[in-house]
Amino acid sequence: MQKTIILDGKKTAQRIKQQLKNQTDDLIKRGKTPGLAVIIVGDDSASRIYVNLKKRACAEIGMYSEEYSMPENTTQDELLTLIEKLNKRNDIDGILVQSPLPGHINETAVIDAISIKKDVDAFHPVNVGKIMIGDYDFLPCTPAGVIELIHESGISIAGKDCVVIGRSNIVGKPMAMLLMHEHGTVTICHSKTKDLAQKVRNADIVVAAIGKAQFITGDMIKQGAVVIDVGMNRLEDNTLVGDVHFESCVEKAYAITPVPGGVGPMTIAMLMKNTLKSAVLSFESENRHDN
Ligand code: GUN
Repeated sequence: MQKTIILDGKKTAQRIKQQLKNQTDDLIKRGKTPGLAVIIVGDDSASRIYVNLKKRACAEIGMYSEEYSMPENTTQDELLTLIEKLNKRNDIDGILVQSPLPGHINETAVIDAISIKKDVDAFHPVNVGKIMIGDYDFLPCTPAGVIELIHESGISIAGKDCVVIGRSNIVGKPMAMLLMHEHGTVTICHSKTKDLAQKVRNADIVVAAIGKAQFITGDMIKQGAVVIDVGMNRLEDNTLVGDVHFESCVEKAYAITPVPGGVGPMTIAMLMKNTLKSAVLSFESENRHDN
């Protein structure tokens, strides 16, 4: 039997970042350096790791980045004032507010305040709507990274039965939309879904994004399915695992992502792609106005 393809997100992300670096070098030569502002409020340890990885990716590619590390007791007004300032700056092309925010800050109000042109997470309702109708500048980073990894497997999404497990605004909902754009037949499952295992067993492509450690087991997977694991969960012994029980699924899958080293690095590569795109659009728009 054919050996299962392990979809190496780290390697794929590295290749994409190299391409982005070449394009960034060209843009810098033309006089524009892409810039990303990353805001972190409070001291969530996972968020700290993600923010460091995002800054490191900017440095690797040759983009400018700046970090705003704000205390847990930052007020919503203080955060909105900072976003207003960043919205106006020509050297900042992307603004990313790391989620989760402390409970006293309204996340919706914060996302709404980010200029739609600098919303490199693609969380703003205008950008969400643009994705829905297929007329967008930015794709949401994690779902876009998943699509790239499915392409890496060599499988065409068109006509396939795709099951997304999870309905979050960040992953599940936009994921379903992107799979539909690629002509997949999509089912979204969630905590209230009846016969979830049976629905997953029907899928040619499974995307797990529920936030439950090793929830998807081998008995739920169809032989030859592509299995993409968006989950990042810590077991009691602090081991990092996904939403998929890798060991029991790997034998049945045609292709599968590991955790870590699967979707995670792709999310960051897609953030860099959006930041470069924003910088290119801003550069082109400035030059149009100059002429
Ligand atoms: N927290 C977890 N994932 C993400 C993400 O993709 N973007 C932001 N801003 N925060 C997150």
